[in-house]
Amino acid sequence: MNPTNKVAKVALIGSGFVGASYAFAMLNQGAASELVIIDVNHKKAEGDAMDLNHGLSFSSNMRIWAGDYSDCKDADIVVITAGANQGPGETRLDLIEKNAAIFKSIVTAVMQSGFDGIFIVATNPVDVLTYATWKYSGLPAHRIIGSGTILDSARLRFELGSELNVDPRNVHAYIMGEHGDTELPVWSHVNIGGQPLKDYIHAHGKPSQETLNTIFTNVRDAAYHIIERKGATYYGIAMGLARLTTAVLRNENSVLSISALLEGQYGLNDVYIGVPAVISREGIKEVVELKLEQEELDKLHHSADVLKKAIHTVFP
Ligand code: 2OP
Repeated sequence: MNPTNKVAKVALIGSGFVGASYAFAMLNQGAASELVIIDVNHKKAEGDAMDLNHGLSFSSNMRIWAGDYSDCKDADIVVITAGANQGPGETRLDLIEKNAAIFKSIVTAVMQSGFDGIFIVATNPVDVLTYATWKYSGLPAHRIIGSGTILDSARLRFELGSELNVDPRNVHAYIMGEHGDTELPVWSHVNIGGQPLKDYIHAHGKPSQETLNTIFTNVRDAAYHIIERKGATYYGIAMGLARLTTAVLRNENSVLSISALLEGQYGLNDVYIGVPAVISREGIKEVVELKLEQEELDKLHHSADVLKKAIHTVFP
């Protein structure tokens, strides 16, 4: 339960694979005291709420129900997972048109309820739709958080941890940029339990650059590989979203790689993009500005250019 003993209410919009998995993760983690599930298919939301309520004897206490947009009024956080998802071979950016239209109606309806909290956005293309949520809501940018590269960074930590046989929680590594094809690994700031990657390589004689390249390719293309096998990805992103929600509700000041509006950081403006940031009860408290190597910075700028072009198709 949240340390203030106040009600911590989360409204979830979209009870598809990602939304339902998120609700399950939230129930298991116990950071919120209320979770309202809203879906165009109200019956699906009702079914999920019923099913989740039957787990309450095995978890911490939580009020879960299927509601409507008026329930967003006093929510602390609205999490949006609604929208079309990638089919096999489709990129995240291919979803812009469909999902931007859906977002306009969702965010408008949420704001009409009187909502005055924090948005967490997960629908793809997440960086573009986080920007759209900022525009459609009129709320300050620090209260709009995109899941960004939170999952990609977790994938990188997992892959590196497996290669080095080190607990991924002791592998500190970020993917920055678009949550998508132009993202980049920030090798210059990877450390293994405090030891910079290049010192680790010096001491252990591995991993080779070739191995690192393969690791990054696996991370970048992970969603394609999973979609090819089972049609969608949901558990990883759901746990990332639950982690992000907890960081906000518990005012953790955790550094997570999320999609934030840049206002001069990294020499970029007017784009939501994946960067490490301090996440607290106020939302995005601060974008962490790492000193990147020139090649990394160039890649980040290229990724931002691609996102800006995509944003301009929705906001010309
Ligand atoms: C993922 O990376 C598809 O964006 C989703 O798993």
